[in-house]
Amino acid sequence: MRELNIGVIGYGLRVGMIFSGLYKNDLGVKINLTAICDPKGKEDLEKTLTEQQIDFSNTHFYTDAEEMMDNEKLDGVMIGTRCNLHTDLAIKVLERKIPLFLEKPVSINYEQLEKLKAAGQKAESEVVVSFPLRITAMVDKVKDLIQRMDIGPIQHVAAFNYPTYGGDYYHNWYRDDSLTGGLFLQKATHDLDYINHIVEQKPVEICAMTSKQIMKGDKPAGLKCEDCPEKMTCGEGPYQTIKVRGDYSHGEYCCYAEDTGNEDSGTVIVRYESGMHVVYTQNFFTRNKHAAKRGAIIAGEGGVVEFDWETSEIIVRKHYETGELRCKVETIAFHGGGDIKLINNFIGVMQGTETSKTPLEQGLLSAYMCLKAKESAENHRFVELDFQMK
Ligand SMILES: NC(=O)c1ccc[n+]([C@@H]2O[C@H](COP(=O)([O-])OP(=O)(O)OC[C@H]3O[C@@H](n4cnc5c(N)ncnc54)[C@H](O)[C@@H]3O)[C@@H](O)[C@H]2O)c1
Repeated sequence: MRELNIGVIGYGLRVGMIFSGLYKNDLGVKINLTAICDPKGKEDLEKTLTEQQIDFSNTHFYTDAEEMMDNEKLDGVMIGTRCNLHTDLAIKVLERKIPLFLEKPVSINYEQLEKLKAAGQKAESEVVVSFPLRITAMVDKVKDLIQRMDIGPIQHVAAFNYPTYGGDYYHNWYRDDSLTGGLFLQKATHDLDYINHIVEQKPVEICAMTSKQIMKGDKPAGLKCEDCPEKMTCGEGPYQTIKVRGDYSHGEYCCYAEDTGNEDSGTVIVRYESGMHVVYTQNFFTRNKHAAKRGAIIAGEGGVVEFDWETSEIIVRKHYETGELRCKVETIAFHGGGDIKLINNFIGVMQGTETSKTPLEQGLLSAYMCLKAKESAENHRFVELDFQMK
């Protein structure tokens, strides 16, 4: 198939970016934006599509996803709504046996997770979960070096994620954790997934802790930055963010208001079936780009491999040898080049020439681990993991 008809459910920031990449793909496949289902209105959507230089002259606009799928003949559907809607919409797509690109997290509570798992077990079409990290050149190279340099078996991992855009989770819609399910599901879902992929073992136990120390306060609920008397001096506000630090604004709401959800740091410890364990930690108040970090230190019987997407660097050190091997995996594309690989994989899946490199099973496993981590943090207890898809 050199031409593919796509329907998008929830044409927001993230899927708009992914669809735009799909539309302008390098594989010579013509992509038709056959339909969009989004309640935000045609005018708004057309403005975005015009900016993205996407032809929408034959696009049909819907506000009901089932109506869209019943009326249109689609080769693929992309779901890019906010997190709380992913599961129910995904089930509707799977029932129609249409290849699906699904934003993460795939589910935000246990009930959704069970429903999606049941639908996934019966599904006859593939799902590409939006997990760019697991398929980055960085992770491929790390796995390759672990093998070629006899680093394994892996016996310990310390992974970290200090984004500089953490303000997003308190200044805009992400601050409502009833929509996101909290920041393990929002962020750690990516990291736990790529770690599972590197470790290649079944996780069996988890414990976690979260804290909210900085992104909180007693400013009135719903306060917008523009209405705050401290807007010219507040380090988090758009004035300082854009005009002083030259960064982008994270949103219009006050992160020091009494109604921000979400912890501002969290740590997970996972035991895997061999008995080894992994620690992963994330925080959302690192503003300085030079302090940003995302990667891991992987220690095996033969040595240690360290990598960081922020520096693009991998360092390998063998236990009984002096010196080190350093290499860079530089990519200009977003998410370490993972997004473009997701897009190409989704094209292959729709054409029937590839299977998903980020399948639903992995999306469910990672969401399950995040939910168990949340449960552990809330109850101050270790929690057993027993996820089975089949
Ligand atoms: N994989 C990644 O790396 C990555 C990165 C960023 C965001 N995300 C995920 O993408 C999702 C969307 O985030 P965003 O920042 O693009 O949000 P957004 O608000 O920009 O987009 C959501 C869109 O869904 C639409 N919508 C709302 N209700 C709908 C409904 N019932 N049916 C159809 N459409 C509906 C909204 O109008 C909006 O256009 C989130 O779940 C987020 O976790 C993933």
